[in-house]
Amino acid sequence: MKLKSLDIGRLTLRNNIFVSPMAGYTDYAFRALCYKLGAGACVTEMVSAKGLIYKNENTEFLLRRDKEEKVSIAQIFGCDPDIMRMACESEALKPFDIIDINMGCPVNKIYSNGEGSRLMEKPYLAEKIVKSCCNSGKTITVKFRAGIRDNELIAADFGKRMEQAGAKLITVHGRTKEGMYSGKVHYDEIAKLKKSVQIPVLQVVILVV
Ligand SMILES: Cc1cc2nc3c(=O)[nH]c(=O)nc-3n(C[C@H](O)[C@H](O)[C@H](O)COP(=O)(O)O)c2cc1C
Repeated sequence: MKLKSLDIGRLTLRNNIFVSPMAGYTDYAFRALCYKLGAGACVTEMVSAKGLIYKNENTEFLLRRDKEEKVSIAQIFGCDPDIMRMACESEALKPFDIIDINMGCPVNKIYSNGEGSRLMEKPYLAEKIVKSCCNSGKTITVKFRAGIRDNELIAADFGKRMEQAGAKLITVHGRTKEGMYSGKVHYDEIAKLKKSVQIPVLQVVILVV
């Protein structure tokens, strides 16, 4: 893989290696360490847009930052376009350069609430959310999966829609919702997605340690 600087909206990142958001792991200390080790960007774990609006204490804790962080990217989840925009405009997200929207979480609690990967099945709502968040003035990026089911891959089409709605970068997880964290990785769909958009596409690299 070729290391190169990356432009996202108004920002130029020193390289194209990102640390994926991981609930329970990518806190400010972990991210600061990853920046020291050379990461181009790190993302907070996903935080609830509703939690931000209602000033949930735990949500604010998850958004703590370290002064060593070079770029600040917060990931949020939710399914109401107005609440998502209000979250982007909140005090808690003011210090963050980029807001990443989670449209890939396969966990049933999130999916059955209409959030995370459920939005891949509601492309009009997903577009509305991205447009609404872009109205906050923040740079908006989106993370999603190859699709919901292995026999119906939709990342290329969905990515095009996200780009047209205003997203400045896409992260794609090559497994489907059905594949959770161990199913097949659909490299062909990732390639199709890359061809269908002009904005940068980051591929989640699956590491087994
Ligand atoms: C413990 C754990 C927490 C995660 N939390 C998030 C999260 O908050 N937001 C997100 O977009 N992805 C999250 N992910 C997904 C990872 O960012 C990444 O896409 C995925 O783990 C890589 O592939 P694999 O686990 O399917 O092999 C999480 C994954 C794990 C294992």
